[in-house]
Parts: sequence; structure tokens; C-alpha cells
Amino acid sequence: MEEDSEDDPHGHITSLAVKRSHRRLGLAQKLMDQASRSMVECFNAKYVSLHVRKSNRAALNLYTNTLKFTMTLGSMLSTTHWDLEAVLKGLKRQGRDV
Ligand SMILES: CC(C)(COP(=O)(O)OP(=O)(O)OC[C@H]1O[C@@H](n2cnc3c(N)ncnc32)[C@H](O)[C@@H]1OP(=O)(O)O)[C@@H](O)C(=O)NCCC(=O)NCCS
Repeated sequence: MEEDSEDDPHGHITSLAVKRSHRRLGLAQKLMDQASRSMVECFNAKYVSLHVRKSNRAALNLYTNTLKFTMTLGSMLSTTHWDLEAVLKGLKRQGRDV
């Protein structure tokens, strides 16, 4: 959790990885959903953020297509990474249960 007092409480994912032999089984999606749920329940988090390398097609698909993260304006400033963000409303995230 980020503790910047001038900002809404929010979570930040610094790292997410699934062992190569266990990929494409929905594990990353489940991990992100559980982490998001805990952020809301334990810290009343309003949103979750992360950075992802622009060349990381698997992660970009996961975050934007499956988890419905949106790219923020800040993303334009980096040449190598996107900034992504998802609003956490109660236990729902942009129409999806988390
Ligand atoms: C990115 C990563 C965490 C995904 O883990 P995973 O458990 O395989 O992902 P899931 O099975 O939950 O996949 C959910 C969705 O993500 C997308 N996705 C996952 N792997 C993908 C791939 N290789 N190519 C394209 N899309 C992919 C798909 O949309 C997928 O849904 P689908 O299987 O119904 O098509 C995993 O590939 C990994 O550990 N990569 C190395 C570390 C890394 O890059 N971490 C992210 C840093 S920000």
C-alpha cells in the first residue's frame, strides 16, 4: 500500500510473475483479483497502479484486456513503460467483481 497522505489510499503492484510451467491457467488473474480484494477490505484502497514494460505483450493483455486497467496520462512520459491504473470501487472494478 502507498501511504502518501495527500492521495487516496491505493495499492501499487511492484512485481507479478507466474512460473513458466504454470502460465495461461488464469493464475495471474486470480492473484490480481485476490490482491485487489485485500486492498479494498484491509486498506479501503480506491485504486491500484503498476508500471509495465511496453514490449511485454502478455502483461499488457492481462492488465488491459482481462483486468480492465487503463493507461494513465503519465504513461505518455515514459519511453519504455506504461503506467496502468484500475479503480477499485467497493469490491467491484469497472464492472467486474474482484
Ligand atoms: C504476465 C504473466 C504474469 C501472466 O501470468 P498467467 O498466469 O499466465 O496469466 P493468466 O493465465 O491469468 O492470463 C490472463 C490473460 O492474460 C493474457 N495473457 C497471458 N499470457 C499471455 C501471453 N503469453 N500472450 C498474450 N496474452 C497473454 C491473456 O489475455 C489471458 O487470458 P486468456 O488466457 O483467456 O487468453 C506471466 O506471463 C509472467 O509471469 N510473465 C513474466 C513476468 C512478467 O512479465 N510480469 C509482469 C510484469 S508487470
